[in-house]
Amino acid sequence: MLKISPLRKRQFFGCIIGLILAIPLIYVLTLDTSEEYLSIGPMNTGHKDLKCFACHADANGNLVQQIQSNISYTIGARDKNVDFGTKDVTLDNCLQCHDRPNDRHPVYRFSEPRFKEAIEQINATTCITCHTEHKKERVSLDKVNYCMNCHQTLEIENDPLDISHKDLILNEKWSTCIQCHDFHGNHKYKVPEKLADTISLKNIKEYFKGGKDPFGTDKKYTALSLEEWLKTVNP
Ligand code: HEC
Ligand code: HEC
Ligand code: HEC
Ligand code: HEC
Ligand code: HEC
Repeated sequence: MLKISPLRKRQFFGCIIGLILAIPLIYVLTLDTSEEYLSIGPMNTGHKDLKCFACHADANGNLVQQIQSNISYTIGARDKNVDFGTKDVTLDNCLQCHDRPNDRHPVYRFSEPRFKEAIEQINATTCITCHTEHKKERVSLDKVNYCMNCHQTLEIENDPLDISHKDLILNEKWSTCIQCHDFHGNHKYKVPEKLADTISLKNIKEYFKGGKDPFGTDKKYTALSLEEWLKTVNP
């Protein structure tokens, strides 16, 4: 009778176990849409073509580690409260694709000490305060009255408005500001001068949720696509 040595036996079972482990692994790695199932929620407006590693990679964009953490996430070794990938997503990730030289509210500016109190109310030093990801939205912060934290003392010479900025502020009409002014100043459009011509708050909220852009589609800057960004990371 054929006698199988214990060593052979171990090698044989080793192979079987290897195969059992490898098949799902290959499956996960090759499944093109697997990223969708791994996600904790749908991507935000404009981000559906981005891959996870565009925001969740380490400083060197280490893809192997990224894939490992993707897999541990699938098999449940990591729960969603654990940092996904190797690093927290910070504004640096966002700025790699969204650097806009003349943003009227540049995040880094608000680190100045004079904004300390305002920042306690509205942390404008990071994008995520207003743009949490994975909520299928454009702007995740619902409120719009936070302009009050920085523009209390606004004075405008020869104010063109039918109800002046001074009066709007005196009467605490802080939700009218966004009805005329976009936040980043990235839209090219004519700013209204009459209160009757402002964008309705309903349309603003729909825009925040991912709907039509009421400030128009003519913009100064558009973001880098995944391909353009990859070229800057791996030239
Ligand atoms: C555009 C950038 C971006 C992309 C692309 C992205 N994420 Fe995120 N993700 C974030 C941000 C920002 C947070 C933190 C949420 C917060 O605190 O507001 C986050 C949080 C998470 C979390 C919660 C754990 C943690 O570290 O906070 C998981 C899990 C996650 N993302 C998975 C994924 C997966 C899977 C993909 C690919 C389908 C993906 N993400 C693509 C930006 C992104
Ligand atoms: C790999 C590049 C990339 C990264 C990283 C990235 N984005 Fe984007 N983002 C895009 C692209 C491309 C669009 C769609 C084109 C556009 O709107 O300019 C977009 C769209 C958006 C929009 C909607 C714009 C609109 O006009 O409707 C917001 C808001 C946004 N990104 C915020 C963020 C934030 C916040 C982060 C960081 C958590 C981030 N993005 C990270 C590429 C990126
Ligand atoms: C204090 C809140 C706040 C912060 C912080 C913030 N945003 Fe926004 N963002 C908004 C609001 C409100 C809108 C919608 C009005 C508009 O279009 O300007 C918006 C719109 C956008 C848009 C779409 C319109 C456009 O400008 O093209 C992009 C892209 C965007 N933000 C990216 C970012 C990025 C990237 C950061 C961080 C560097 C950031 N935002 C920080 C509030 C914020
Ligand atoms: C954290 C503080 C802060 C918040 C919050 C804030 N702003 Fe500003 N904003 C500034 C600063 C600082 C400037 C630059 C003023 C200057 O250069 O004198 C500015 C400039 C502006 C400008 C003029 C830009 C230009 O081209 O001169 C407009 C319009 C504006 N903000 C509207 C708003 C609106 C609308 C909101 C609320 C949705 C808002 N801001 C919230 C600090 C803030
Ligand atoms: C009916 C539309 C309208 C409303 C409401 C409105 N603004 Fe204005 N705002 C304008 C116009 C028009 C100008 C002058 C033209 C310009 O500079 O864009 C202006 C100018 C400004 C400026 C100076 C910009 C510069 O170039 O120096 C700031 C800052 C500002 N507004 C902030 C606010 C804040 C804060 C609120 C809310 C209390 C507000 N605005 C409400 C239309 C509006």
